Amino acid sequence: MQIITSLDELRNLCYQWRFSGVKTGLVPTMGYFHEGHMSLMQYARANSDKLITTLFVNPAQFGENEDLDTYPRDLERDAAIAKAQGTDILFAPEAGAMYVEDHMTWVEVPHMAKRLCGISRPVFFRGICTVVTKLFMLTLPSMAVFGEKDWQQLAIIRRMVNDLNIPTEIHGCPIVREADGLALSSRNVYLSPKERSKAPHINKGLQVGCRRVKEGEKEVAAVKQAVRDYWQENVPDAKEDYLEIFHPHTLEYLEKIDGEAHVACALQYGRTRLIDNCSLA
Ligand code: PAJ
Repeated sequence: MQIITSLDELRNLCYQWRFSGVKTGLVPTMGYFHEGHMSLMQYARANSDKLITTLFVNPAQFGENEDLDTYPRDLERDAAIAKAQGTDILFAPEAGAMYVEDHMTWVEVPHMAKRLCGISRPVFFRGICTVVTKLFMLTLPSMAVFGEKDWQQLAIIRRMVNDLNIPTEIHGCPIVREADGLALSSRNVYLSPKERSKAPHINKGLQVGCRRVKEGEKEVAAVKQAVRDYWQENVPDAKEDYLEIFHPHTLEYLEKIDGEAHVACALQYGRTRLIDNCSLA
């Protein structure tokens, strides 16, 4: 595995691959790897000739009062994991190389970015779309792999790639969870032991909603109430940021469930913001 920090070096290598018919798979990440990241690397490894993993804590997607400075980092450990998963190139640039001082161009999908996580994180998806576009332009991957853990991110990137005719196939991989149901996240290290023991109730609440739908409930308001009642009883100290039921691809909010539907939530638990989602199909 080669660790590359230079944009030119990355582009030269990747463009040679693209134009000589070598199929490359890209896994964009912000590092501090866990089994969720590894599952994406394994999927990309199995479905392409070369695996490019990128590790960049992207300042553009953090708001002013967010955790950019304290975001967990461990390059040495991450490099060992990326190598063990069969990564050919680990791209780990400096922030100043990705964003030159007078950077002023942004990629946005405003309609889809203004809802769900975008309400409390107004610059989040603009930062993600911009950095992912930059990574696509630098590596021209045949395919790129994202986790369903960040459902809104995946839906927006699919839309962006379609709208901009980017020649990369987008693949989504299922959420990897702890045995007790908590979705793996680099930010789970922020949880206190007590919070960690109660955090699985967030997913259990979504499961309550899923069951209500399976039993025939069609009213979104009633399903949301059932989820909230469960949370109130089991994690009353977690503060809801949002709980929404929406169309899985367009992200349009629904009032009635009579076709494809997805539920997603974000809760602030102590100093940790936790997100989760699942299909209501
Ligand atoms: P990061 O949070 O590091 O996540 C990198 C990739 O891992 C994303 O596609 C995310 O959905 C996936 N992932 C995280 N936890 C997962 C889990 N428990 N199961 C399955 N997949 C999981 O998402 C980002 O970084 C950034 O926004 C990025 C796309 C790299 C742009 O900066």
